[in-house]
Amino acid sequence: MAWKTTWLLFLVVGAAAVWTARPRTELLNVCMNAKHHKEKPGPEDKLHEQCSPWKKNACCSVNTSREAHKDISYLYRFNWDHCGKMEPACKRHFIQDTCLYECSPNLGPWIQEVNQSWRKERVLNVPLCKEDCQIWWEDCRTSYTCKTNWHKGWNWTSGYNQCPVRTACHRFDFYFPTPAALCNEIWSHSFKVSNYGRGSGRCIQMWFDPAQGNPNEEVARFYAETMSGAGLREAWPLRFGLVLMLLWLLN
Ligand SMILES: *[C@@H]1O[C@H](CO)[C@@H](O)[C@H](O)[C@H]1NC(C)=O
Ligand SMILES: *[C@@H]1O[C@H](CO)[C@@H](O)[C@H](O)[C@H]1NC(C)=O
Ligand SMILES: *[C@@H]1O[C@H](CO)[C@@H](O)[C@H](O)[C@H]1NC(C)=O
Repeated sequence: MAWKTTWLLFLVVGAAAVWTARPRTELLNVCMNAKHHKEKPGPEDKLHEQCSPWKKNACCSVNTSREAHKDISYLYRFNWDHCGKMEPACKRHFIQDTCLYECSPNLGPWIQEVNQSWRKERVLNVPLCKEDCQIWWEDCRTSYTCKTNWHKGWNWTSGYNQCPVRTACHRFDFYFPTPAALCNEIWSHSFKVSNYGRGSGRCIQMWFDPAQGNPNEEVARFYAETMSGAGLREAWPLRFGLVLMLLWLLN
């Protein structure tokens, strides 16, 4: 009799743990723990130019949004013009990319912990809408660069990134033969170009008209649900087993 009670107690505790299990606590409306992000998203009425679509709810401060538009800004000291002047039509995509990274509160489903000196979290495989990647690539084809991965391998001795000695400047389409090569490789797979298009609710838009609200809210909700949904489905056999054991013990 006593062993049955012990087992029952054990089972009830186990069942409670399985039932309430959740993969990651907060996937929606969050800011990553990185270099310049605010702790929590909130309104920022004065966000600068290309970052202004996020002003109703943003992870970036006004200061960060202004810096995002500058060359070799205090954010990362990054030099877009490392192989001569980057075309303005191309640079605007990098500014928009910076605004999305710094300001978006909708990247939660893709946040990963990292062990880097300058940030504790990064994003991985954010499903960028295919048109946003396509236009970025087309507008940058005729600009020049010397590297495929812009996260590492630069010469920083002068305080901003310069091409390492053994690399040569070539047109973007030499280092990035396709749109996917550009969007996926440039920031070490922070993006993974989606097969979905703008307005589908299944991919993250770098560009959007805030008059219609922020379309990425719905996208984050969808992926957060699929991710926790997968967790729940995996837990079903375990739950079923627990119920069977409970029934048997109560018999
Ligand atoms: C705002 O930007 C300036 C550079 O323009 C920087 O020196 C300063 O530290 C920033 N302030 C905050 C609060 O991040
Ligand atoms: C993170 O990096 C530090 C120093 O480079 C190292 O000591 C530590 O083991 C690393 N942690 C993980 C989880 O990789
Ligand atoms: C880095 O750049 C400096 C000039 O800014 C140059 O003198 C040095 O040789 C470069 N080093 C490498 C490894 O590219």
